[in-house]
Amino acid sequence: MHFELTEEQLMIQKAARDFAKTECLPGVIERDELQKFPKEQISKLADLGFMGMMVKPEYGGSGMDTVSYVLAMEEISKIDASVSVCMSVNNSLVCYGLQEYGSEGQKQKYLTPLAQGKKDGELYIGAFLLSEPEAGSDATSQQTTADEKGDHYVINGIKNWITNGNSASVYLVIAQTDKSKGSKGINAFIVEKSWPGVSVGAKENKLGIRGSDTHSISFQDVKVPKENRIGEDGFGFKFAMKTLAGGRIGIAAQALGIASGAYELALAYSKQRKAFGKEIMHHQAIQFKLADMATKIEAARLLCLKAAWEKDNGIDYTLSSSMAKVFASEAAMWTATEAVQVHGGYGFVKEFHVERLMRDAKITQIYEGTSEVQRIVISRSILK
Ligand code: CAA
Repeated sequence: MHFELTEEQLMIQKAARDFAKTECLPGVIERDELQKFPKEQISKLADLGFMGMMVKPEYGGSGMDTVSYVLAMEEISKIDASVSVCMSVNNSLVCYGLQEYGSEGQKQKYLTPLAQGKKDGELYIGAFLLSEPEAGSDATSQQTTADEKGDHYVINGIKNWITNGNSASVYLVIAQTDKSKGSKGINAFIVEKSWPGVSVGAKENKLGIRGSDTHSISFQDVKVPKENRIGEDGFGFKFAMKTLAGGRIGIAAQALGIASGAYELALAYSKQRKAFGKEIMHHQAIQFKLADMATKIEAARLLCLKAAWEKDNGIDYTLSSSMAKVFASEAAMWTATEAVQVHGGYGFVKEFHVERLMRDAKITQIYEGTSEVQRIVISRSILK
């Protein structure tokens, strides 16, 4: 067993770190304040090949491994989690879901431009539409319906809290096709945002990841060709669960990045700020906080990398991705809150960045399966 990264993985990590510093740091406070979607940053990430990192080159992707994806997600999330959530959803929910479970025609038509993040020179990204006003953690309780009508389906319903809701061109929509069959009566469909009957609700005014583009999306008699159903009839719930297991590695890596960003700021500040006649790093109260932050971050990183390694090596990663997500998101919330504490009064003002990281950390305990849902997945796995 060894813990070394390859030359290529180190290069990708460095490219992501440089990108975050040069392209994401400038304006990050203003984008958060104004809830401005980071379109320019996402467009440049697409040009770097970071919007379809794990997609095979024949479908327009970069053909990288999941370990590289975790490294890149960590670096970008240290600076701007609004950029990294957009990147995560496109990479691991949309592109990976289509690459694994889509038909050849779906891959040619949709995956190729989605992996490039561009179509005809314009931004082209996707969103994953599972959550509903009354189906969040209880994901089998889908109210959105897809009625089969010969060669097409007709979708009606509403989806909530959709990341990339307005900026996406393509939606992967989970809907009920036969309520009597429970989770086996659910299907997943590729729906284009421009199709008649699709409408985008107002942007949510959020606590954190305020630059990201979160909307409700409604469907009124939206006609979807049968060839846009993903997989066999009734595969939709399994599609959502399997895709989310990979998505959770992305969000775990996002949480890891938020934690390490907050820790790096706290560490640097503790070396400059003086109190009681010496730099605060010389006070044991601060040293112990930094020691706990560094330990939790290292443990979170190892869990993320293990889940990624399992995925890259064809091993079932459902358990490890849930463990990585619950641990990393709780480490992020704790570390960012303590980083504010280390900064004292300065930590409470926007210019010092840690208050934003603290607000951004919270959502990692909620989306792509709350901490409670991760504990359901973990306990079912260890008890079975
Ligand atoms: N892989 C394959 N199949 C799976 C699976 C997995 N990981 N998890 C469940 N299934 C299968 C089960 O085996 C079962 O199939 P069978 O009947 O054939 O055995 C079927 O799916 C139903 O599963 P459960 O009985 O376990 O379903 P449940 O109602 O008890 O729910 C749950 C389980 C884990 C709580 C699930 O509902 C869940 O994960 N909920 C959270 C949903 C979520 O993560 N939402 C996030 C929204 S997306 C988002 O946030 C994106 C964004 O924008 C950032």
